[in-house]
Amino acid sequence: MLRARIQKFRNGCRQSLNFTAEGNVGLLQLTFVTGMWRKSKRFVTANFGGWKPLAIWILIALGISFLLLRINQKDSKDDLNGNLRVWDASGRRDKAIHKEIQTHIPEADSVCGTSCLSGQKSFYVKTGSGKDVGPTICYEGKIYMSDKEKNVGRGLNMLVIDGDTHNVRDMKTFDTYTSDQSFRQYAQMEMKEKTVVIIASFDEISFSLRDEAKTWLKVMGASQIDKVAFRDSYVLIGQRGLKQGHAVEFINSMKENEEYAAPLEKKGCFPIPVGPLEDSSKLLASLKDIKMGSELKNCGLETACEGTPIQVFTGDTDSVMPHVCVGGKMVMEKDVNNAGRGFNVVVLDNESRIPKFVNRFDTYAADSIDMEEFLKGLHEGDIVIAVINDDASKQLKQGAIKELNSLGSSAIQNLGFRDIWYFIGQKGIKGYSEFEEISFASYDGEWPKQIKKSLCLPRKLRSLKVAPKLGGKRNLEKREFCKLNDGYSEFCDTQRVDDKLEPAPLEDKGTENDEIYKTSILIIPGLDHNALARTLETTLIQPGIKPDLVTVAVDEQTPDHGQLATLFKFQNISLASVARYEDKMNSAIEKFFSQTNSKYVIVIEEEIILTPDFLHFLSQCLPALEADDSLFGASAFNYNGFETTSGDKTRVNRMEDFPGLAFLLKRSVYESQMKSKMDKCCQQRSWDSWTLKQSGEMLVPDVSRVFRLPYQSASDDDSYLENLFYQPRLTITEYGAKIKNVNSLKSSSYEDELKKEIKASKPFPLKELEKCSSKTETVELPSKGSTFTLYFSDKDKDRKVFRKLCKCFELYSSAGKPLKGLHKNSLRFYYKENTIFLIASTSPYFEIKSEDVAVYE
Ligand SMILES: *[C@@H]1O[C@H](CO)[C@@H](O)[C@H](O)[C@H]1NC(C)=O
Ligand SMILES: *[C@@H]1O[C@H](CO)[C@@H](O)[C@H](O)[C@H]1NC(C)=O
Repeated sequence: MLRARIQKFRNGCRQSLNFTAEGNVGLLQLTFVTGMWRKSKRFVTANFGGWKPLAIWILIALGISFLLLRINQKDSKDDLNGNLRVWDASGRRDKAIHKEIQTHIPEADSVCGTSCLSGQKSFYVKTGSGKDVGPTICYEGKIYMSDKEKNVGRGLNMLVIDGDTHNVRDMKTFDTYTSDQSFRQYAQMEMKEKTVVIIASFDEISFSLRDEAKTWLKVMGASQIDKVAFRDSYVLIGQRGLKQGHAVEFINSMKENEEYAAPLEKKGCFPIPVGPLEDSSKLLASLKDIKMGSELKNCGLETACEGTPIQVFTGDTDSVMPHVCVGGKMVMEKDVNNAGRGFNVVVLDNESRIPKFVNRFDTYAADSIDMEEFLKGLHEGDIVIAVINDDASKQLKQGAIKELNSLGSSAIQNLGFRDIWYFIGQKGIKGYSEFEEISFASYDGEWPKQIKKSLCLPRKLRSLKVAPKLGGKRNLEKREFCKLNDGYSEFCDTQRVDDKLEPAPLEDKGTENDEIYKTSILIIPGLDHNALARTLETTLIQPGIKPDLVTVAVDEQTPDHGQLATLFKFQNISLASVARYEDKMNSAIEKFFSQTNSKYVIVIEEEIILTPDFLHFLSQCLPALEADDSLFGASAFNYNGFETTSGDKTRVNRMEDFPGLAFLLKRSVYESQMKSKMDKCCQQRSWDSWTLKQSGEMLVPDVSRVFRLPYQSASDDDSYLENLFYQPRLTITEYGAKIKNVNSLKSSSYEDELKKEIKASKPFPLKELEKCSSKTETVELPSKGSTFTLYFSDKDKDRKVFRKLCKCFELYSSAGKPLKGLHKNSLRFYYKENTIFLIASTSPYFEIKSEDVAVYE
């Protein structure tokens, strides 16, 4: 590629512009000699005794003068004043002189290989040779820049001399092969009137040297710079304000067969001022001018502000131009200072708040190196306002990102195609800016939401120690999934598409080795894609969750469920397609148990949302499950957990329902009672109850840890499900609810505790039940924080009284369906901040009733 580039530049065949005075000086010498000949014919004869001796004298004189010429004035340049003297320093003697310089320095003897009249400055300058040997710049007897000094590099190497004190002020290298940005910026900020520069090229200086940079060199008196081409050698001694053409300026052009132009080597003397000076402001006017656009009162703020009012606007798509308003005036907008695609950048002086630079970097079309250099060159304290329009990400490179980060941006590295962003930072900030916002383009080709913001920039910018939350990063995997799969409208909502899918960490590190965090989770999806995504999302937010222990059962006809699982870093098992959810559940459970050897399995049905306390709840149940064979597992869903009939977050009960919706099951129960019998025990939906051969119980919390989406009833037969899922339910939403009775969940101690509790309870005020027949009034209780026991007769097969009581308290009851949540024909629940026991005459606890307590019939 470089080769091709070189060729391209070679073909642009140019003339050599190397200034050479050799011919002129020779001619002068000859004229002088012929003049002598004509005028002094007679004199010659008289004094030299004839022509022959004179000829010998002349020959000698010619010889001497030729010699002198070769040695001293092979190439010299005199400026119009006659006191600028420059020689080509590549002659034989010069080598010696060069050596002399090398050996004399660092003592600095006021010569750079030449002696100058007083008031003149000596210099020696050699451009780089090829790409390996760097340039040398000597001024007043001291080599300031060279390979040895390790301060030279590709591009323009520049010694900066103060025009008043004549002292060296700076040594700079600008890689104008890659970008001239920093040179232009330096020129504008640092090269004050009368500044003198000595410039030597190295390797390549022209490739990115644009008109503005050339104008700056012209301001320094250069007149040849437009002719400098690829890999030419270039020397300039100039001064700001020097009349164009009065600088010491040399070019060596690259010849047809060369890789690089031959180096230039010059030495001599120059005065300061270098030549006639003039006002350079006219030439510069075109560069410095920052046009102002339309006015916008307070930049859109409702009231005047203490600091500087600003408005940033990203424009809209590629059709509405962006703008930046500072102090009530547009600094960039359509047709003002080149506002448009890419980064629109306004730099304010920290003290005056006046715009110093207005620049646009179209990093869609061009590399971001210019912006990088520009930002690097800013002064400590400079305020940078940046607004992106259309796309700025395509050619945005690490270097520029790093610079923006150093100005306080925390989000620019997350910029993707067509994302937009605004930012206000400060050179030298320690930490993050509070003024930043990013808006991501959608995965489906939609443009991002535009940003328009008016703000008051305080006199002193704050810096934040912690990066502000700015919507994070694009989630590329999720975007890809969403692009490929329809039907996930909620999960793939453009506002959420970049949500991170990360497992929630466990805060209490001491518990991370608990059995629960080694337990497999099986998720059995239904047909609703969004519901499945919600289940997976809420599974992932379980603190301590291990994604590789989560498996999604995938119907072979919905492979996207597998892709979704993979997106969450969950496993999947593929199942033959079946029509009924029940059958799917059965085959999923069978297949899963056959593939894992985990002691417990957590099963999650379709349409379940897990609250963050789900796993934590189950973990508290595990010790009891471990210790008690009559417990089959634990369920996180309480069928009676309605808003009015639950509320004790610290309570877990034993119940005979098995199982439901989101539950932990013992492998031993599966092995002994379900394996290869699923079609007999578990043919119904879980809410219709599964029937295992042996009896056992589940641990069920008073307040559910999962939420089931309302069931979409397909037939009237399902109407009882409305009772179950349409009444408002109570669900614990926060993580960390502690269960108080964890140590008395084992059968024997549970019974003891329960009996104690019933014995200590108050009889339920039966007259309150009279209100039960009225639909508008509910059962009232005389106190709060008490336990009431209600004994009732339970003689008939249909449990008429029991069902009536359930209706009174708005517990679950549906004609023809079993009651739920029972434990030995009793029901314990939480009602209006009291605990209530309903105890049937068929219950063993009925014995506890004292004689004088009435039985509800
Ligand atoms: C910017 O200017 C403000 C107000 O004059 C000053 O308090 C602050 O220190 C300056 N910041 C920098 C970095 O120069
Ligand atoms: C199922 O999981 C396996 C790895 O566990 C993965 O390679 C495969 O792609 C997944 N299937 C789908 C449909 O994503």
